[in-house]
Amino acid sequence: MTTLFIGCGRMGASLARGMTRRQVVYFIDPNVGAITDAHKIESIDDLSGIDAPSLIILATKPDGIDQPCDIVAPILSTDTIVVSLAAGIHLDRLSARLGPDPRIIRMMPNLPVLANSGVLACVMDNAPEEATRQHIARAFGALGSIFWMRDESEMDAVTALSGSGPAYLLFMAEQMQKEAERLGLEPETAKAMAHATLCGIGMLLAHGDEPLDKVRATITSPGGTTAAAIAVFDRDDVLRRLVGDAMTAAALRSQSLNAG
Ligand SMILES: NC(=O)c1ccc[n+]([C@@H]2O[C@H](COP(=O)([O-])OP(=O)(O)OC[C@H]3O[C@@H](n4cnc5c(N)ncnc54)[C@H](OP(=O)(O)O)[C@@H]3O)[C@@H](O)[C@H]2O)c1
Repeated sequence: MTTLFIGCGRMGASLARGMTRRQVVYFIDPNVGAITDAHKIESIDDLSGIDAPSLIILATKPDGIDQPCDIVAPILSTDTIVVSLAAGIHLDRLSARLGPDPRIIRMMPNLPVLANSGVLACVMDNAPEEATRQHIARAFGALGSIFWMRDESEMDAVTALSGSGPAYLLFMAEQMQKEAERLGLEPETAKAMAHATLCGIGMLLAHGDEPLDKVRATITSPGGTTAAAIAVFDRDDVLRRLVGDAMTAAALRSQSLNAG
């Protein structure tokens, strides 16, 4: 299996590193020097004489998506799968550029792919054939959990949940760290404990399948310290409204990217 990345910055390189154990990976990116076990090429012409890539991953920023499409267009066939990581860029815009031959997938990965614990949400115009699902599972399965979405309209919600979600949790932990300092902890201690708390609850969730509210209930005794804090988050529905506004803002921003 040969894979080609166009663009290999933060997300592209994270995926490429996780893939090289299973397949031959090439990449084109004028700004990236070397990636362990992945082969840098200068242009698409350098692939002549090599098996055409069965998987092409477009990993440039959304506002520059047309150029990578034009770069790969000459080597596409009905055997090619093109995966676009570009947040907010719709399938019809990609297929207008790439033509009718390739199978085109929009994918939204998130940062924990770096720790092989990512969420990788995929969508195609039609329900994917079994062979396509298997190809994607072989290529990306080591990097985290793969979800096939029912319809492209779900991708804005995916972006607002798993795409941007890790940053919300980190933002929350940053505020907890600052408040712990205000309540008297040494900055270094607060930092280490906030970090360990976030890692710890993630590991606990990873080792079970209890719903989030059930796990929370196990550490929220009625009248206890956690309940006192949750009551503040719950007052006037403040947290629910804040999360609602924040995720709506992320989804709207995702919607607007296709126009750019
Ligand atoms: N990072 C995340 O957590 C995340 C999560 C989900 C989805 N994504 C998506 O993943 C994509 C990449 O994001 P990123 O954070 O990895 O961006 P990035 O770090 O900026 O990487 C993009 C790389 O592609 C290069 N590039 C631009 N145009 C190119 C071209 N025509 N041919 C070859 N290389 C080209 C860029 O070079 P220049 O710097 O010179 O432009 C850069 O090195 C985006 O579409 C983003 O929406 C990212």
